Amino acid sequence: MTSQRTQELIQSDKEHQVHPWWITGQAITRVFEKGHGIYLVDTEGQEYMDFASQLICSNLGHRCQEINEAITAALDKIDYVTNFYGQTNVYAVELSRKLAQITPGGLKRFYYTCGGSESTDTALKLARAYWYFKGQAAKYKIISLYDSYHGLSGFSMNVTGLGGGRMHSPFGPAPAGYLRVPSYYEYRSMFGDVPDSGLLSAQFMEKVIQKEGAASIAAFIAEPILGSGGHIVPPDGWWSMVTEICRRNNILLIVDEVMTGFCRTGKMFASEHWDLKPDIMTMAKGITAAVLPFGGVAFSDEVYSAFEGKPFPHGFTYTAHPVCCAASIATIDYYLKNQVAENAAKIGLHITKRLEKEFLPLPCVGLIDGRGLFQAVELVTDKEKKTPISIEQNGILIQKLAEKGIWTRIQGPALNRLEICPPCIITVEEADKALDIIKSVLTEFKPS
Ligand SMILES: Cc1ncc(COP(=O)(O)O)c(C=O)c1O
Repeated sequence: MTSQRTQELIQSDKEHQVHPWWITGQAITRVFEKGHGIYLVDTEGQEYMDFASQLICSNLGHRCQEINEAITAALDKIDYVTNFYGQTNVYAVELSRKLAQITPGGLKRFYYTCGGSESTDTALKLARAYWYFKGQAAKYKIISLYDSYHGLSGFSMNVTGLGGGRMHSPFGPAPAGYLRVPSYYEYRSMFGDVPDSGLLSAQFMEKVIQKEGAASIAAFIAEPILGSGGHIVPPDGWWSMVTEICRRNNILLIVDEVMTGFCRTGKMFASEHWDLKPDIMTMAKGITAAVLPFGGVAFSDEVYSAFEGKPFPHGFTYTAHPVCCAASIATIDYYLKNQVAENAAKIGLHITKRLEKEFLPLPCVGLIDGRGLFQAVELVTDKEKKTPISIEQNGILIQKLAEKGIWTRIQGPALNRLEICPPCIITVEEADKALDIIKSVLTEFKPS
């Protein structure tokens, strides 16, 4: 029996709030009130293990003391100053110096945003403006992958390849200049059931570049590992093919580390798994472990050189907000001091072994994918035919898991990939406890 307080909160919410990707007008299912470590507590007092780190952003779980203290200390000194008009704040200066020491490929120029979509928008504008200032304004097209997710704001929505019509149709025709190519999702390849379909994605991209003309293409954007698109790791050789194609055709490489960055995949940045050297890299989420809304874009000296000596044609009121910068400094310090990436790698490996040994043989599990604490279980009703679970079964499973104290999501192109993405501070005991519960729910699940 739900308490009167919770019922009133849910009713009031229904009357006044609209939620992202929730049936408008339908009552929400729970109201959270507290969090600690990898746990969240709702207004009924029920505790949940946060096994998707919310939107794969609460990399340090909930209520990390060090971040909270850094925010309070910053607020005691300064609340807000703009980064416009030739001024800045001490936290933004310190954060930039710190980020320059950890970003891949020697990126050391930064621009700050309030989140992932703004970071994508900024990266795309940077890429186009780079060519414009180089006297090649005709190089404006952007290539991205189907199954990718880069945000839903004005520019970013056009490169997001996930969701088909659901994410794009209500907003009218897409502007010109955005091209999408098949992703490397081999299990459900757009090329059909053919060998090496993942690598065909890179070959297809090269053909598109030839047909469109490299002189018209500004950049290629991709996540190092597909995120909302299902935690799909590219096949061996994919990244080296793609980076080589970009270099050979004089196309900027934008790597979107919004979800994969900051320890999530067992490295500080997932780019490190392939030694990627992007021209531009986007960040958000883990940059403050989601404690405050914040993001950034890192770019190379070469990209920077196109803007040097000119006003930078972009800006937001909250760019380089001092309190967010302070939170980010404390977050990065915590990651490094407590070897959080190493923990994600270690626990991730333990989880992979259990998933492969105990979950893969289950009738409803078609595939295990991902890396570090960025993993997914592909759920099917028929292993042979690879039939994805239905949207109703997705909802039932999520509800069953929640009843047993596991909060997670089932995402991906076919909405059938169960996320195994707990906070990167999780212990092996906590991981085992959660996996035991998830396994029991999947074992009871009758796929047909
Ligand atoms: C890879 C990637 N890029 C960009 C975004 C957009 O971030 P935001 O929701 O903060 O705008 C997301 C969000 O999940 C993401 O996963």
